[in-house]
Amino acid sequence: MEGRRSIVIAVFSTSAGSGKTVTAINLAAGLAKEGYQTCLVDLDLQFGDVMGYLDMVGDVTLADAQAALMRDEASFRIEDYLAEYSCGGVSFSVLPPPKEINDAYLVDVDAVAEIISRMGGFNFIVLDMTAVFSTLNLAMLDMSTVINFMGRSDFLPSVKNYKVGYDTLLRFEYEERKICLVENRAEENDLINYRDVERLLGAKFYHRLPVDSQAVTRSIRMGRPLMFSAPLSPLTQSYWQLVGRYTNRSIAPRQVQEQEVPAEEEKHSGFSWFFKRGKNHAEGQVKG
Ligand SMILES: Nc1ncnc2c1ncn2[C@@H]1O[C@H](COP(=O)(O)OP(=O)(O)OP(=O)(O)O)[C@@H](O)[C@H]1O
Ligand SMILES: [Mg+2]
Repeated sequence: MEGRRSIVIAVFSTSAGSGKTVTAINLAAGLAKEGYQTCLVDLDLQFGDVMGYLDMVGDVTLADAQAALMRDEASFRIEDYLAEYSCGGVSFSVLPPPKEINDAYLVDVDAVAEIISRMGGFNFIVLDMTAVFSTLNLAMLDMSTVINFMGRSDFLPSVKNYKVGYDTLLRFEYEERKICLVENRAEENDLINYRDVERLLGAKFYHRLPVDSQAVTRSIRMGRPLMFSAPLSPLTQSYWQLVGRYTNRSIAPRQVQEQEVPAEEEKHSGFSWFFKRGKNHAEGQVKG
């Protein structure tokens, strides 16, 4: 997995719930569909949602990868710690976060940086992050090629945090051209107009993702990226455009044809892994 240099897209925000995970997943799926070797890394170490949103279960996590790296750097292979997401002929790798909150505290920033740097075999590495300027996040922003900085214009405290976040990124001397301002849940008749937000920031949005609650809910319920759960949604189309921008390709609308969309399966109910895990925990306790 070493050798080439990967493009690292950091999906970051300074407000919780601004759509980082949904965006990271749909970017990873879109890049994989375009033929790029892609790895999605869940860096929301305590409350990561990637596995839940994709209805995946993984045996090994970032915590195991770190332990193995620290045990023996020479024999460490990142491939041994990645889960594979596959749907409709599209697949990408996922590095899950630690399973237990206690393990999240033990994650070491240098070890994570070393793990990411050993993913050179991927064309794209997409980082799903938390809304905080932590040491880990700053190290990841340093390593990234692009900062996909997400914000919402429909809620005043989010706009305030977006402004503070953007100013902080600039103060930390991240290059302006590396920061891609992405508005999520964009609506033309928002109480706060996006142009006013642009004026406040002193910069233009790189991309605006529309709101489509039904599509996102369906995607999470089915455990599938939007291209497979809501291929015709304007939000799905907007994600195609964003993938096109990050890859310098023009992607035709409605890229995924109906026949490529896998039939709905009953077993997919989003977060089923969580309920299975809860059941196992409960059974473990009963059995003592
Ligand atoms: N464009 C959109 N249209 C409608 N709903 C959306 C959109 N983007 C995200 N959502 C919804 O917003 C909620 C938060 O999304 P998501 O989990 O991706 O945010 P996040 O930034 O990762 O949150 P956190 O900071 O907690 O990790 C989810 O319930 C998702 O369904
Ligand atoms: Mg998230």
